[in-house]
Amino acid sequence: MEKFAIIFLFFLVVWPGRAIAGTPDAVTAPPERIAVIGAGIGGAAAAHFLRQYFGHNTQIDVYESGSVGGRLAKTTISGQDHEIGGATIHPLSLHMKEFVQLLGLKELQHPNNLLAVYDGEQFVFEESEWFIVNFVKLIWRYGFDFLRVKMWLENYQHKFMRIYQHQALGYSFTTMEKLLQALGGDKLSKMTKHSIDEALQEIGVSQRFIDEMVGPVIRLTSGEGVNVNAFVGMTSLSETESDLWTVEEGNQMVCSGLLYSAKVSLIKGKVTSIEAKKRPRQDGEVVTSYEVNYLAGPDTGYGMYDIVVVATPLHRGDPEIHFHAFSQPIDVVRGQYQQKVVTLVEGHLNTSFFNYHGAEPFRPTTVATTIHSGNFILGASVSVPIVRGEAPARVWRVLSPEPLGEEGLRHLFRSHTAMHQAQWFAHPRYSPDDRVPPFVLHDHLYHLNAIEWAASTVEMMAIAAKNGALLAHHRWYRQLDKIDQDPLQKLKVEL
Ligand SMILES: Cc1cc2nc3c(=O)[nH]c(=O)nc-3n(C[C@H](O)[C@H](O)[C@H](O)COP(=O)(O)OP(=O)(O)OC[C@H]3O[C@@H](n4cnc5c(N)ncnc54)[C@H](O)[C@@H]3O)c2cc1C
Ligand SMILES: *[C@@H]1O[C@H](CO)[C@@H](O)[C@H](O)[C@H]1NC(C)=O
Repeated sequence: MEKFAIIFLFFLVVWPGRAIAGTPDAVTAPPERIAVIGAGIGGAAAAHFLRQYFGHNTQIDVYESGSVGGRLAKTTISGQDHEIGGATIHPLSLHMKEFVQLLGLKELQHPNNLLAVYDGEQFVFEESEWFIVNFVKLIWRYGFDFLRVKMWLENYQHKFMRIYQHQALGYSFTTMEKLLQALGGDKLSKMTKHSIDEALQEIGVSQRFIDEMVGPVIRLTSGEGVNVNAFVGMTSLSETESDLWTVEEGNQMVCSGLLYSAKVSLIKGKVTSIEAKKRPRQDGEVVTSYEVNYLAGPDTGYGMYDIVVVATPLHRGDPEIHFHAFSQPIDVVRGQYQQKVVTLVEGHLNTSFFNYHGAEPFRPTTVATTIHSGNFILGASVSVPIVRGEAPARVWRVLSPEPLGEEGLRHLFRSHTAMHQAQWFAHPRYSPDDRVPPFVLHDHLYHLNAIEWAASTVEMMAIAAKNGALLAHHRWYRQLDKIDQDPLQKLKVEL
């Protein structure tokens, strides 16, 4: 069965894209022009899949107001390149792995982390290099909780992984709810509707384990507490697994590579509004096209498109892109994005800051913090240089809600020689009654970043991009049998 599944998956992954999307009918002409707004991983991956499904006669314009890569960015500190935005990628990220292969890039494996958890007074947990020591420590303090959580995690990861088979067969979904429902029924779709706290308590995990292990990991990866939804919780906890990786030379290389290979035109400009325009076609049918207005320095410009894919959050605080002349209001979440500061520091951690009096040198490579330790820092980890074979200087990557400041830096480090800081609107500020907005905003207008309200990672954006491109294709050619369907259910019916 397993073997069959693997062969099946392999077969699907190597199957050419055109066949997956189905052959367009003879009646509908391909779209002339498509706009993608944003050149982060979402926009770049969308451009790649759109090119694959619509062929080479369609013009694809990608708008970018900042730098290609968006939240994926690198910087040089003490002569070495490091990620300063989204850094680590999970080993089960099949789309990212495929991109890396396609572009001739390489994966750079992370060494395994040694985790220490600080509760505001002391380290309540310190991981050892020895598996057996950790095992005993964990059992001693938390009973079998860590095994419960591990099994829970694997169960849901396994369910979610079905997305790759569904997408390989060309299935797409108009909302995250329907996507999760098709992959794992009510159990999986419920994950975005209750907190990780509730989900783990339901399977009998102790409050102590949730506070001391789960909470700190979520703070470190998403800057928030255990009231985030269980799906965010799952992706956060996945970041503690082994075999995490980064793209050699930087994750953003995937974005520039995909844009280049998809032969798009990159327009340096900030999109300010999208306006619906109705016009009659030659055959008399009235169709909507979209006018994309943008600012490039002091100049304004516009373009007309058949399909528009928005690949940036629409609300980081204020709406940045306005929608005009649509018959119904455009359904985007009114939520906020969470600020997160990444500070890369080459220096020696001040272990007395953590009341640490254990053996020096300090071995842990990741420091996570419980909610009781306040909001000065969320956590810190040793950053891996993105050039292969370079001996790592001790560069720490510190995460905090606010900039550390000179004072803070002097407190946290005994001494330091270099420092780099980046401030991000990192991901949605989650609350338990969040709603995940739809991917479809209008007939041929799509919003990939709706998925961030279920969880925001590099691979999630790649999944959203493929889903968005499939939706765009199927809705353009009116192949509605591959939208919001459960392929397994269909298979059963056909058998
Ligand atoms: C500090 C930090 C750490 C992270 N760590 C991880 C991690 O370890 N692993 C992981 O998987 N994920 C991580 N993430 C999340 C991950 O980086 C994001 O989920 C992902 O990069 C989002 O990609 P995107 O393309 O959707 O959005 P973005 O990267 O934000 O891209 C959107 C692009 O659109 C452009 N844009 C915005 N508005 C306009 C406009 N009006 N007109 C034209 N262009 C516009 C922006 O300039 C930007 O380049 C992290 C994020 C941050 C900030
Ligand atoms: C280190 O941390 C301790 C305890 O918070 C503090 O008193 C000291 O000033 C810090 N800085 C250095 C350089 O030791």
